[in-house]
Amino acid sequence: MSRREWWHDKTAYQIYPKSFFDSDGNGIGDLKGITDKLDYLKDLGIDIIWISPCYPSPLADQGYDISDYYDIDPRFGTLEDMDELIAEARRRGISILLDLVVNHCSDEHEWFRKACEEPDGRYGKYFYIEDRDPSGKLPCNWRSYFGGSVWEPLPGHPDKLYLHMFHKKQPDLNWENPEVREEVYRIIQWWMNRGIAGFRIDAIMNIRKALPFADYPATRNDGLCDASETLETVEDIGDFLDEMRDRVFIPNNALTIGEVFHDKYEDLEDFIGDNGYFSSMFDFSHVVKGQSLLGWYDRRQITTEEYKRCVIEAQRFISDKGFYSNVIENHDRPRAASYYLPPEGRNETGKKCLALAYFMLRGLPFIYQGQEIGMENTLFDSPDDFDDISTLDEYQVAVDAGLSEKEAMEVAALYSRDNARLPMQWADSRNAGFTSGDPWISVNPDYTYINVCEQEKRADSLLNFYRQLTALRKDPDYRETIVWGEFIPVYEDQEGLLAYHRKGDRDLLILANLKSQTQTVHIDTEHRVLLNNMEDIRRNNSDLVLEGWQGVILELVRSDQQI
Ligand code: NOJ
Repeated sequence: MSRREWWHDKTAYQIYPKSFFDSDGNGIGDLKGITDKLDYLKDLGIDIIWISPCYPSPLADQGYDISDYYDIDPRFGTLEDMDELIAEARRRGISILLDLVVNHCSDEHEWFRKACEEPDGRYGKYFYIEDRDPSGKLPCNWRSYFGGSVWEPLPGHPDKLYLHMFHKKQPDLNWENPEVREEVYRIIQWWMNRGIAGFRIDAIMNIRKALPFADYPATRNDGLCDASETLETVEDIGDFLDEMRDRVFIPNNALTIGEVFHDKYEDLEDFIGDNGYFSSMFDFSHVVKGQSLLGWYDRRQITTEEYKRCVIEAQRFISDKGFYSNVIENHDRPRAASYYLPPEGRNETGKKCLALAYFMLRGLPFIYQGQEIGMENTLFDSPDDFDDISTLDEYQVAVDAGLSEKEAMEVAALYSRDNARLPMQWADSRNAGFTSGDPWISVNPDYTYINVCEQEKRADSLLNFYRQLTALRKDPDYRETIVWGEFIPVYEDQEGLLAYHRKGDRDLLILANLKSQTQTVHIDTEHRVLLNNMEDIRRNNSDLVLEGWQGVILELVRSDQQI
């Protein structure tokens, strides 16, 4: 990759607006609430914000079911609030990315309403609508991501079915129809004109279906096949992505981050190479590790060693061919501290170690709201405590597979997307300082000791550690190396140790001991410590003895350089 882009040296932050900060006391976070917190974000070293959907929506999938692409949901504010947010962010040098959700819309979108009125008319062709076979046989046996068949009777037309890869309130848009693609480009252009920098692009690998519809080998004993499996056979998605890039992304110089689940490394350059479909895509290699086609109940929480192997492989593969976006959390995942760190490492030291380990990888680091203070999973007592449709489905799948209700609850609680969607913990005051009203979803009781206010006061807090990481990334002395330097893993066979150089005009060595036992690393080069998550570092001649969960960034100094 030869080209350097304006966003490469930035740090990004994801906001889940419903749970970030409520400025008007209705219990739901809002755009004004984001504007109120821009100084906090600036201070954290954030340059780019991705805001999860805030468009009008029935919120069946918390905004990923859009009923109007050209407005803001009144619960989140108004278009004027968005304009103000964009302007205030810009004043602070912060760019805004919105979420582009165009694999599907809401069943309450007027396109779908009109399709139901006239399935054979113009809007019927915006969706996948099929005649129902009198025998009851469905057009294909795909299972939607949120459970059950992807086929649902078209409202008002019992003889017809429509396709939804996600929830039945999220009908899939038919990208084969050029008119649909034009609608998408219009939406993108409209928002770019309003002053955003670009988009995070939702579920984009789903836009092209495996056609004609056909049955696939069942992946569970319900006789259905995971929708994701069918995507493996789609070969020409590039046609759509090329067109979108050329029509709207390039002319607008848009920053685009694809939500791409695709494990074919050989295709990476097509996706994020110099003339790739997107500017960047998330490295989800460690997210998919441990997953099972049977459901969450059969999923395995990965070890830190597996995490390490995933990122090393991904980094090695991408090398300088593109620029990944690196994450350990988002709104679809449990909290990183609870997922990646075993109980004995689930403390500020462990959280700092994990932070340092992923933040220094080559690519654009994203921080998910609350990650910077180490928010953790919450406790759920019963299925009634869940809001998320996917958690409710997975709970049922686990029960149907024979788990007791208690066991199914444990599984659902461990992986629930709700964990990440609980209100941001600003203070130890009522409702964690998130709202003066009644929060739409309950606050994690640990807010009394995990909150921004407390960490602001403490120099050695996780929040301040994140500030040190973002500051180092911006430091003119290290920026070149941290942003564009080579990634070179070392001590790969040392279990639980994630160790790599970042080599540019400087030579940095990142050492993260992702386990509780001490580990010794032999270093015979002179070095200085740039960042350490513990007070000290133990030495034994030219060995460094890393304590459990110790993470350090060293600068190796050539003998001709002054320390
Ligand atoms: C991915 C989003 O991140 C997730 O929250 C959503 O449920 C699906 N796409 C469907 O839009």
